[in-house]
Amino acid sequence: MNISIIGTGYVGLVTGTCFAELGNHIICADNDKSKIDMLNKGGVPIYEPGLESLIKKNVAGGRLEFISDISNAVKASDVIFICVGTPSTDDGSADLSAIEHVSREIAKHINSYKLIVEKSTVPVETGEWVKKTINEFKKSSAEFDVASNPEFWREGSAIDDFMKPDRVVIGVDNKKSEEILKELYGPLDTKIVVTNIKGAEIIKHASNSFLATKISFINALSNICDKTGADINAVAEGIGLDSRINTHFLKAGVGFGGSCFPKDIKAFIYIAEKLGYPFGLLKEVDKINELQKKNVVKKLKDLIWNLKGKVIGVWGIAFKPDTDDIRSAPAIDIIKMLLEEGVKIKAFDPVAMDRAKSELGDKITYCKDIYEAAASSDCVIVMTEWNEFKEIDWKKVKESMHQPVIFDGRNIYNPAKLKELGFKYCGIGRR
Ligand code: UDX
Repeated sequence: MNISIIGTGYVGLVTGTCFAELGNHIICADNDKSKIDMLNKGGVPIYEPGLESLIKKNVAGGRLEFISDISNAVKASDVIFICVGTPSTDDGSADLSAIEHVSREIAKHINSYKLIVEKSTVPVETGEWVKKTINEFKKSSAEFDVASNPEFWREGSAIDDFMKPDRVVIGVDNKKSEEILKELYGPLDTKIVVTNIKGAEIIKHASNSFLATKISFINALSNICDKTGADINAVAEGIGLDSRINTHFLKAGVGFGGSCFPKDIKAFIYIAEKLGYPFGLLKEVDKINELQKKNVVKKLKDLIWNLKGKVIGVWGIAFKPDTDDIRSAPAIDIIKMLLEEGVKIKAFDPVAMDRAKSELGDKITYCKDIYEAAASSDCVIVMTEWNEFKEIDWKKVKESMHQPVIFDGRNIYNPAKLKELGFKYCGIGRR
């Protein structure tokens, strides 16, 4: 099929590249000319394992091209995926101005039947607005349909998640749109859930909100474990081995972050409120996540008493391992709270140092490895569970620290072993 992708951010590039890999002809369009120039020179503006080589392969195969002129992309395609950003605004709602802008642009250049698919994460009823906008601004008599086809990819495994999904969700108004999308996803061996557009829009917000709810649930339980001496890892296993619950997303920690969960939960709360349903459960999920970060500061005071003037080593800044993404990373919020308490921070992350520097500037000290971050500190906090933090020379760490205190914010160490080595240990819901 001839497909155009509007927006060459994370979602657009993965969508375009993977559909090209499935044998379609793809035009990726973006009005940011510098991005398009970079892509045409072989560069990739985002980091996602495997993406760069897959882009190269499909560009060389003549199935993938990048242009800055949206009008040509629209005219040359039968299916158009909208993959522009929908960032959070101050009140938590999603900023849909890019979706509106693109809808108008598409409308102006429709020259034959088009299926216009929302791929960006959008609140329920956005599809209606896209339809209305295109009808208002359309110049030709050519027909069009709108559909919703949300993605569920995780950063770091997006290509695999695209190629081997648990399911594909399509929200459509009619059989024609359904058949086009089913044909497009035909090469993937997966279940396709077909519903109406509003249903698909809700599925996206609900999936992320449900996963975030699992995390906040286990984090809330970790506080009960802290108070009683139960071990949250054992509790999570005991709950999760019930196949109706499952063990995924039951890892207690310093809170969830990233570009999706915090933003999507807020947007879902906002749209539910607007529709007349105050979604109290999700408000609590968000609140528990904020509290989980504040609790780190509180627990540190129990561990090392006064924070003013103390030195804290931070291991990991990215919102999860294997990414340099620090958007809504709990480490950033916690570091900011600690700085307000007068703490001196020495931090290390295997790949997120440059991004951390642009966010925190000279407010903290950037270290070359975990050992340098631990040296002379009163406590080390693990914020991200990088694999390389799991096997370390504890003797070296202990000898260099001012006080041998480990705050294991991701529960990756064995408390008994660290205590045996002479450390004071504190985890999340385990001691
Ligand atoms: C998430 C969804 O998983 C994905 O389906 C959606 O399309 C985008 O949002 P991503 O943001 O890449 O993907 O990260 P994910 O691996 O889901 O982790 C999100 C956050 O939750 C991270 O901060 C992670 O540390 C935290 N988390 C995850 C926990 O604290 N505990 C867990 O058990 C799982």
